[in-house]
Amino acid sequence: MTPLIPSVRLGRKLGIGELYFKYEGGNPTGSYKDRIAAMGLSWALGQGRGACIGTSSGNAGAAIAAYAARAGMPYHLFVLENVAEAKLAQSLLYKANVRKIKGFGNDPEIGMRVFDRIFEGAADHGWEVMITAFRYNPYAMEGVKTIAYEIYEELKGMPSHVYSPAGGGGLYCGIWKGFNEIYESVRTAAAPCMVAVQPEGCSNIVRAYQAGSKEPLPGSSTSQISGLQVPNPPDGKLALQIMNRGGGKGIAVSDSLIWETQRLLAVEEGIFCEPAGAASVAGLIRDCEENPGRSLDKVVCVISGNGFKDGKRLSDMTSEIHVPCLDVEHLDI
Ligand SMILES: Cc1ncc(COP(=O)(O)O)c(C=O)c1O
Repeated sequence: MTPLIPSVRLGRKLGIGELYFKYEGGNPTGSYKDRIAAMGLSWALGQGRGACIGTSSGNAGAAIAAYAARAGMPYHLFVLENVAEAKLAQSLLYKANVRKIKGFGNDPEIGMRVFDRIFEGAADHGWEVMITAFRYNPYAMEGVKTIAYEIYEELKGMPSHVYSPAGGGGLYCGIWKGFNEIYESVRTAAAPCMVAVQPEGCSNIVRAYQAGSKEPLPGSSTSQISGLQVPNPPDGKLALQIMNRGGGKGIAVSDSLIWETQRLLAVEEGIFCEPAGAASVAGLIRDCEENPGRSLDKVVCVISGNGFKDGKRLSDMTSEIHVPCLDVEHLDI
């Protein structure tokens, strides 16, 4: 149960009736991936697997490594070459067997080859594949829908709109699945409009939505937003099906708007998140700019990861602020 934080300023500024932030940075390893790791490791143990194997941009690796450590199961992890240091350090501390792969996360061809190799290796050794996408690990991904259940429980009803960051698309699809299940069982209010937000430099799903394509469009990633650099989104097709059936839409925003929004959340709301987590709010800001006068009544932005996850970005944002160091006799207060 992560906090659903009501906005104190931003919602009013954007003219939104009620705005909430679902703060997934409050999970044990600092991102929503814990929900997937908890389910995935339970499943792997139940299947009697000797180890698990998978890829990550960092957060899934940290989460799965933690739950694997607790389960006493070895974890073989392949990460992007430019993985965020803090995410890598978490995985190493939990004793994952980590290897970096050149070009992974930028080049979609390399991504597909890595996935193929992992499946071959897992089949050879009888290991569980832990790639956090419905396409590869639907049982583990069931964990994501608890985000929707928690929001529904706390709001005592459906929000009108949910903004979610999208990399591979699994987070977006999992939240939609949760709301859809609730809708199917209670049938009182409609499920929310689900908005997927991607960085412009890696917006293969959003560009496909805008072009009317059923498949994610090809193209390498130039985005620097850790967690959202997925040029071959495994759940992109599923996300597009949801959007095209009227369940939502996609918005792309620049990396710089995401960074600006990360700062805005800290300053205006006291919320500390990593850039990928701020993408949902950046998408909301862009949507409000593009559709002035439209009324949004009950909006939830999913803030998917904790600010401590990206130390480089944190120091980039604060390094120019001068902090004086005083002798005690010069303490003028
Ligand atoms: C913090 C954070 N937000 C969002 C995402 C994107 O999730 P998905 O790949 O399921 O779309 C990730 C993926 O690694 C992430 O780490």
